[in-house]
Amino acid sequence: MLNISLRVTPTFKKCGLVLILIISGLWWFSLLRRRSSEARGIFLIRPNITGTVNRKSNVTSCDYSDISTGALFDVSKRFPKDFILRHRPRDVLPGGMYAPSDCDPGERIAIIIPYRDRELHLKVILNYLHMFLQIQKRNYRIFVSEMVPGTKFNKALLMNVGFLTAEAAGNYDCYIFHDVDLLPVDVRNIYTCGDHPRHLISFSTKYVEEGHPTGWPYAWLIGGALAFRAEHFRSVNGYSNGIFGWGGEDDDMYYRLTSRGMLIERVHPTIGQYYVFVHKHDRGNPKNKFKKRILATSAERSKVDGLSSIADKYSIVAIETLTLYTRILVNCSEERILEQMRPYLYG
Ligand code: UDP
Ligand code: BGC
Ligand code: MN
Repeated sequence: MLNISLRVTPTFKKCGLVLILIISGLWWFSLLRRRSSEARGIFLIRPNITGTVNRKSNVTSCDYSDISTGALFDVSKRFPKDFILRHRPRDVLPGGMYAPSDCDPGERIAIIIPYRDRELHLKVILNYLHMFLQIQKRNYRIFVSEMVPGTKFNKALLMNVGFLTAEAAGNYDCYIFHDVDLLPVDVRNIYTCGDHPRHLISFSTKYVEEGHPTGWPYAWLIGGALAFRAEHFRSVNGYSNGIFGWGGEDDDMYYRLTSRGMLIERVHPTIGQYYVFVHKHDRGNPKNKFKKRILATSAERSKVDGLSSIADKYSIVAIETLTLYTRILVNCSEERILEQMRPYLYG
């Protein structure tokens, strides 16, 4: 009888152990990497509007096939900063409105920019976005929701006020909340709403340089440029009104959406590329020290903190129809708002 006996030498044992450790290490590493590029409720899409949209009887619907196959439209290469600064947008109606004259895009969109004291960024984004949205044959109006000087910045409340003002002004189909310091670089990233709230930004070389290989700081971050249909936005009660200072309003929105089981679509990173301005921290916008408490109460608080409770917490100081945008100047009572937030902040 053939007797095969395998003698396991100590060296062989050691090698086996090392091999097992390496394999399991690699398995954990791949799992963690997968985890960090995924977030609950977010899925990637490739926006691709082809053919026709909502044909009306007398005007031809816009044809988007040339845009959806278009080449990369990279601002940093094609349009240096002084070109954008000198460029004068054309065909814009007072208040920052535009619609193509030769076709009907179907959807009407409101761009809402929360703002204070970033004059250069505002100048650049207005010049740039008008150009970008006109290439995309969009029907749009740009609203800048500006906080009065000398108070603490409240980005989320500005976005709520921007939404209510835009809705009252034009009952738009789609509302896009947009930071003043982000420029989309690819025309194929069509500014439109989807069946779910749509996160338009998914990649910036700035984040790669800062050590995030995916080009995006963390998977569930939905800040910067987010598109909602009115019913999406209303169904989560809009943004919180109670987030003063920097950070957390976008994470709070993520929990508002996911706690209701809503999905979020994100533009694929090949198309969702943005140029991100590097800037210093603003005065009047200190880091929000309540972020942890705020994010621990997002789901519950969203029922009472938002569009439903905003009416007595702000005032519109002025609305101006300017050449390139509609300016909404907003004041709000931090005291009154924090009064309502107290149980959630200290609770
Ligand atoms: N913002 C502003 N003025 C301020 C603070 C913020 O206009 O004093 C607006 C602006 O639209 C900006 C956005 O709020 O892009 C987000 O703030 P910030 O740029 O500081 O946040 P980041 O995304 O760079 O961390
Ligand atoms: C903040 C977010 C911010 C993100 C990226 C997070 O820590 O909570 O509000 O958008 O960092 O800067
Ligand atoms: Mn910024």
